[in-house]
Amino acid sequence: MEELAGKTAVVTGAGSGMGKAFALRFAAEGMNVAIGDIQDDALRATVSELEAGGTPALGLHVDVSSPSDIEALADAAEKRFGPIHLACNNAGVEGYLDGPIWEATAKDWEWTVGVNFWSVVHGVRTFVPRMLAHGQPAHVVNTCSMTSVVQATNMYGITKHAVIALSEVLWHDLREAGAPIGVTALCPGTIATNLFHGSRNRPIELTDDGGNISDTGKELREHMHGVLAAGMPPSEVAGKLVAAIRGDGLYLLTDHEWDPQIIERHEAIMAGAVGPAVVPEDTAGGAK
Ligand SMILES: NC(=O)c1ccc[n+]([C@@H]2O[C@H](COP(=O)([O-])OP(=O)(O)OC[C@H]3O[C@@H](n4cnc5c(N)ncnc54)[C@H](O)[C@@H]3O)[C@@H](O)[C@H]2O)c1
Repeated sequence: MEELAGKTAVVTGAGSGMGKAFALRFAAEGMNVAIGDIQDDALRATVSELEAGGTPALGLHVDVSSPSDIEALADAAEKRFGPIHLACNNAGVEGYLDGPIWEATAKDWEWTVGVNFWSVVHGVRTFVPRMLAHGQPAHVVNTCSMTSVVQATNMYGITKHAVIALSEVLWHDLREAGAPIGVTALCPGTIATNLFHGSRNRPIELTDDGGNISDTGKELREHMHGVLAAGMPPSEVAGKLVAAIRGDGLYLLTDHEWDPQIIERHEAIMAGAVGPAVVPEDTAGGAK
C-alpha cells in the first residue's frame, strides 16, 4: 500500500512502546488514526498527543483478547473515518516467565495466549473481511518478534511462532484470492519499550493468587526491562515499518543481531536434531 495520506489506520496496544510510535508515525504520514489499549491513562495520553499534532484520532478501551472489543474498535473507526486501510495487530505482553512450561497454570496460558495470539486471530477475522469488502489497497501488520524465528524458549516464544505462522497463511490466502491486501510480519529485536512490565495490565481474574506479578518472575522481568531500555527506539521501528508497508514486504526484521540464532535453529532442524545444544558434532553440518 503506497499511498497512506488520508487513509485510516487502526493500531492496538498504542498506549505505549511500538504501538504508540506507529500511531504517531502514521499520523505524520497524514493518516486518520484509531487506537485501542487496555490501559486507559496511556490510551488517553496517546490520543491527546495525536490530536495536539492535528491528527483526527480516536481511542477506545480494548482488551485485544476479546473478539467483541476488536469488533467495537473497527466499528468505531469506520463510523468516524470510513474504510479501514491499515490494521496493526500489535498489543502484546511478556506473559508467563515464572518457571518451567509444565508449571504454567491454565490462567497463565489464557492470559499469554489470549493477548499475544488470539488477539491476532480476532484482528484478522475482524479487519480482513472489511478490507475485502471495500476493495481498496490495504495492509495488515502483525507484530511478531525475533523470537518467532529463533528456537522458542518460553510461552512468549510459543505465541510469537504462532503469530508468524498465521501471518504467512494470511499472506498466502490473500495472494490466492487476488486481494489488494499486503501483510507484514514485523519481527522486532530488542526495542526500548515497557514490554517486560506487561504484567501491569494482567487482569486479576486471570491470576492464580490475586496479584498480577509472581515473585519468581519479578527479578527476570526487571533485568529484561533494563536490557530493552538499551534497545532500538520504537520510532526507528516505525520508520522501517512504513517502508515495509509501502514496499509490501512480508517479513520485516528490525536488525540482523539475531541472525546467528536464526541460522542455528534452522540448521539444527535440517540436521534432524532436537536443539542446537545437543546437535552431535558429526551431524552439525547437516551431512546426515
Ligand atoms: N520490545 C521489544 O523488544 C519487542 C520485541 C519483539 C516483539 N515485541 C512485541 O511488540 C508489541 C508491542 O509491545 P511493546 O514492546 O511496545 O510493549 P509495551 O508494553 O510498551 O506496549 C504494549 C501495549 O499493549 C497494551 N496491552 C497489553 N495487554 C493488552 C490487552 N489485553 N488489550 C489491549 N492492549 C493491551 C499495553 O497497555 C501497552 O500499551 C508486542 O506484541 C510485543 O510482543 C516487542
